[in-house]
Amino acid sequence: MTTETAITTVDTHGHRTCTCGSLRAKSIGDQVVLKGWVDTRRDLGGLIFVDLRDRYGLTQIVFEPGEQKEVHHVAERLRGEFVVSVRGTVAARADDAINKKLSTGEIEVRVTDVLILNTAEPLPFTVSAHEAKQQHANEDLRLKYRYLELRKPNVQQKILLRHRCYQSIRRYFDSQDFIEVETPVLMKSTPEGARDFLVPSRIHAGKFYALPQSPQTYKQLLMIAGLDRYFQIVKCFRDEDLRADRQPEFTQIDIEMTFATEELIYELNEGLMAAIWKDIKGVALLLPFPRISFDEAIRRYGSDKPDLRFGLELHEVSEAFEGSGFRVFDDVLSEKGSIVAIVVPGEGDRGRGAMDRLDKNIVRKKIGAGGLIYFRLPSDGSDVLSSVKSDVLPASFVGKAVEMSGAKTGDLVLVLAGASPTVFEQMGTLRLHMANDIGLIPTGTDGPWKFVWVTEFPLLEWDEDEERYVAVHHPFTSPRISDVQTMFTDPGATRARAYDLVLNGSEIGGGSIRIHRQDVQRQMFKLLGIDQEEADARFGFLLEALRYGAPPHGGIALGLDRIVMLLSGARSLREVIAFPKTQTAQELMVQSPDWVDQHQLEDLHIRIAYDDD
Ligand code: AMO
Repeated sequence: MTTETAITTVDTHGHRTCTCGSLRAKSIGDQVVLKGWVDTRRDLGGLIFVDLRDRYGLTQIVFEPGEQKEVHHVAERLRGEFVVSVRGTVAARADDAINKKLSTGEIEVRVTDVLILNTAEPLPFTVSAHEAKQQHANEDLRLKYRYLELRKPNVQQKILLRHRCYQSIRRYFDSQDFIEVETPVLMKSTPEGARDFLVPSRIHAGKFYALPQSPQTYKQLLMIAGLDRYFQIVKCFRDEDLRADRQPEFTQIDIEMTFATEELIYELNEGLMAAIWKDIKGVALLLPFPRISFDEAIRRYGSDKPDLRFGLELHEVSEAFEGSGFRVFDDVLSEKGSIVAIVVPGEGDRGRGAMDRLDKNIVRKKIGAGGLIYFRLPSDGSDVLSSVKSDVLPASFVGKAVEMSGAKTGDLVLVLAGASPTVFEQMGTLRLHMANDIGLIPTGTDGPWKFVWVTEFPLLEWDEDEERYVAVHHPFTSPRISDVQTMFTDPGATRARAYDLVLNGSEIGGGSIRIHRQDVQRQMFKLLGIDQEEADARFGFLLEALRYGAPPHGGIALGLDRIVMLLSGARSLREVIAFPKTQTAQELMVQSPDWVDQHQLEDLHIRIAYDDD
């Protein structure tokens, strides 16, 4: 018999009466119709067991040898991922066959009739609810067949969690009088710091739409329009270098409110996080979240997204080495650089080999620092072992630095020296590496959840390549009221009314109070090297809108994918997006990006200039 002949053309069973996850002991004796995929099939000499799977769970169905011949015959032909409909009776499992791990584990369905709704060819990799049966296929293959990967319950769980997040978010904002407004996808470029994805216009030859890097200007216009409180769960597009926590298209929870202050934004977002964590995790977050200024975050953690789940704080020990005569340190100090230390507890007995590898592979290669200096405090209480000989760096200076760092017997002190703030950032990366190395970073999905607001960001930073200031957040961010004058006198020292929300070392949101005065906005463009003509051409609509009664306003955007990634314990955004892109911005399943027909290009007035090769 060929497989074709076995496929049922008309499903005479009608609708399913329950799902594969719903039957319990109270249904014993009921007649049911179940439909789903064959997860596993075991033939115990005529007694055939099948685990039938759908989104809701697994149900064991049983074909007994005494059953009608045709039914049994079909059961013999079932293979993994066939789609079937079964009619049968719910029965209690034998005591020794009860599976406590399965929600349907007390029952089984004794089949009286079966239909094959579709067959399945052998899959490129095994799909099963039983994780032990899942093969480790490489990621490209899994992405190519993402629809098969998505059949795995542990993968579906993440998509389901994401769905529950959407519901939680919408309930919360609705309860807070926010309204959801959709903004255009075909728009004009907004500067968020990345490259735009452009869409050529057929009607307007040579002109392009830009896909939104964020709906920033639109949400400000909605405030000028008087909508007061706006949110949107919205796709954003950025053509930038990809990492595990970056996708070229990603989703923001975008928020804006009129008459906003930092305090109102913090309170609103803390409420949102509390609602999500309560709904998804059933935990009550401790509010309010702590706050740390940008400067302090860099000084103590070497990062503007500090992971507060562990200590290993940075200590500036420059003072301890003043006049040490050690050239590396003397040079750094004379150039107004810094010497920074961290204490790694209980690692004072690390061998020379391990320290050399840390220096070479991590500090120099990965972090790009000039080299590692370290002091080991052996656990037997013997003298400090310095990586620099005592005739080059006298022990008294080392002793002072060790004391300043707070290290104790058995600890390891790691030291980097260099220009500030780079050396702090390098130490921040080393801090994360060491925390991971000695197992200080919790894995799993039960927290701890260390939220922190990072505040008082600088407004501008100097771009060496472009030789001009660029906005740290974006050009619509307001300077602190006390710093408005500094904007003119010392642009680099101006602080912004900007804030980031950080969770467990991940930046999950960023926002600001906006500039609502046209003259200030013009000044900001000027500082960014955008002359009046260009400002009018690119942002004339906003500059004009600011003249017609623009209220003070502010907001934030949260990275939904990152939040779901952290909630679900995923290691990459790809795990929490139904159809993600690879590190090289491709979607392997539908094979995008792709060539288009010549006539489509002609419609769009485009000629491709191929690189000569
Ligand atoms: P920002 O650029 O900080 O702010 O973005 C807000 C948040 O979006 C997430 N995010 C990303 N997630 C995945 N992949 C990416 N490529 C990616 N880029 C950003 C981060 C980030 O914190 N318009 C402003 C918001 C505002 O000022 O209100 C904006 O977009 O979690």
